[in-house]
Amino acid sequence: MTRHFLVDTDLSQSEQNEVLDLALQLKKAPYSDSTYAGEGAGRRTVAVIFDKTSTRTRVSFATGIADLGGVPLIIGSGESQLGHKESITDTARVLERMVSTIVWRTYAQAGLEEMAAASSVPVINALSDDYHPCQLLADLLTIREHKGKLAGLTMAYFGDAANNMANSYLLAGVTAGMHVRIAGPEGYLPEQRIVDAANKRAVETGGSVLITTDPAEAAAGADVVATDTWVSMGQEIEDEAAKSARFELFRPYAVDEALLAQAAAGAVVLHCLPAYRGYEISAGVIDGPQSVVWDEAENRLHAQKALMVWLMERS
Ligand code: CP
Ligand code: NVA
Repeated sequence: MTRHFLVDTDLSQSEQNEVLDLALQLKKAPYSDSTYAGEGAGRRTVAVIFDKTSTRTRVSFATGIADLGGVPLIIGSGESQLGHKESITDTARVLERMVSTIVWRTYAQAGLEEMAAASSVPVINALSDDYHPCQLLADLLTIREHKGKLAGLTMAYFGDAANNMANSYLLAGVTAGMHVRIAGPEGYLPEQRIVDAANKRAVETGGSVLITTDPAEAAAGADVVATDTWVSMGQEIEDEAAKSARFELFRPYAVDEALLAQAAAGAVVLHCLPAYRGYEISAGVIDGPQSVVWDEAENRLHAQKALMVWLMERS
């Protein structure tokens, strides 16, 4: 059975740990694994498809695939037949004969599921409207490096709590045995099906879930403070009045000095980037001593290399 990585809970707690352990090894010895170079790899090429823009995901996958002895084939939005002239299933049937892994940033989670169902090579979600699981592997790696552990820590996310990052913080966090708090305004909280999945996983790992509209409740004593843009890709608003109304709604959830002061003294601050200083995070916080966002960005590379090796070993 081919293993795919479409949502954070596709890895169990112990599997997530294995990937993070491997990521630390590869961080120390970047060229020690040649998964995509050997004869066993099938094909050396890895397809990396973008239906949305990207800096970190694009560069970290391209670099990581090259580090592992492979060749990244970056396919930009509108550059292939996928989605307009050819079905996802037919695309998967062609790609699986030529590449070792398919990495895809897209809109609908259902598209990734269709690709995975038709593909005999691993499919990796490089961000969808629902989840950003590769980002969370990097975030967890960063927390482990700075805090020495994951299970038992409290991680609080603030802002647009109905977006892909909120969902992934919830699911990946509880998978790691963390106490995850998600704070956002009414109407911008995770869907019930995601909260249910998180609660189910939390029972297995000893983690817990708190969904709240009260930023102070989420911040109190938190070990990790995280946020993300208030306007995700695909949600761009042209109307200035509507944009201002949305920002006003999210403003109480901005990660600024006052909010961070309510967290634990040694709390670390995460942001997947790109960041909008003065909106979801203040310049003082993101550029301040508790911010670990640049380590977090670098860790995309190490975490994804580990993920690719781990999936290839099981496919
Ligand atoms: N964090 C993240 O996924 O960044 P990019 O959109 O630049 O890939
Ligand atoms: N929530 C953001 C994450 C960007 C990495 C988006 O989907 O645009």
